[in-house]
Amino acid sequence: MNNTIIMDHPLVRHKITLLRDESTGTKDFRILVSEIANLMCYEALRDIPTELVKVRTPITETMQPMLTGKKLAVIPILRAGLGMVDGVLNMCPSAKVGHIGLCRDEQTHEPREYFCKLPDKIDKRIVIVVDPMLATGGSAVNAIDILKAKGCKNIKFMCIIAAPEGLERLRNAHPDIKIYVGCLDEKLNENAYIVPGLGDAGDRIFGTE
Ligand code: PRP
Ligand code: URA
Repeated sequence: MNNTIIMDHPLVRHKITLLRDESTGTKDFRILVSEIANLMCYEALRDIPTELVKVRTPITETMQPMLTGKKLAVIPILRAGLGMVDGVLNMCPSAKVGHIGLCRDEQTHEPREYFCKLPDKIDKRIVIVVDPMLATGGSAVNAIDILKAKGCKNIKFMCIIAAPEGLERLRNAHPDIKIYVGCLDEKLNENAYIVPGLGDAGDRIFGTE
């Protein structure tokens, strides 16, 4: 699984445990989702390109690494992905933000696209797709299909909780992308919800039912 990074950092795992707790209310849920995205983004950007630049310290002149300025875009899958955007922007405030709106059909569990607006020159950017939940994998695969159809080549996918079924589907459909998972859970239930999971991420972020 060398294109998949499962976070094993105790801070991330601790915050995910708090997220799972059914007594965690909307305000704290939102804060935690954003904090986890922030921590995961640090890992997801580990391989972004740098170049050596000249810098004069009080002691001497030296060549040291700086980011090359390769443009980033963060793309939340609506709605729940919106909760992760601020956490990523905290780390890279100049990133552009696009939106892909997908909604799972309650019977088939397959996604239906209802919105797509992407930053300019999206094909030239490093794209980080964010969604807290990777369940059947249908939404993530669909979002990445859309981005590849627009010419994107450097795509990362970041989720807080994944089911093994969704992770396998995403890896098979898009073996070229890097996947960052906060925690790999046990399975899906009969309604395609992640077990133990955290329930419906969108509803818990926005306080809907
Ligand atoms: C949730 C979640 C993912 C999707 C995951 O969104 O945020 O986008 O389900 O499920 P999948 O891997 O089986 O496709 P949902 O469709 O409930 O929409 P919402 O974010 O608007 O609540
Ligand atoms: N979407 C969610 O929000 N939670 C799940 O467990 C599965 C899909």
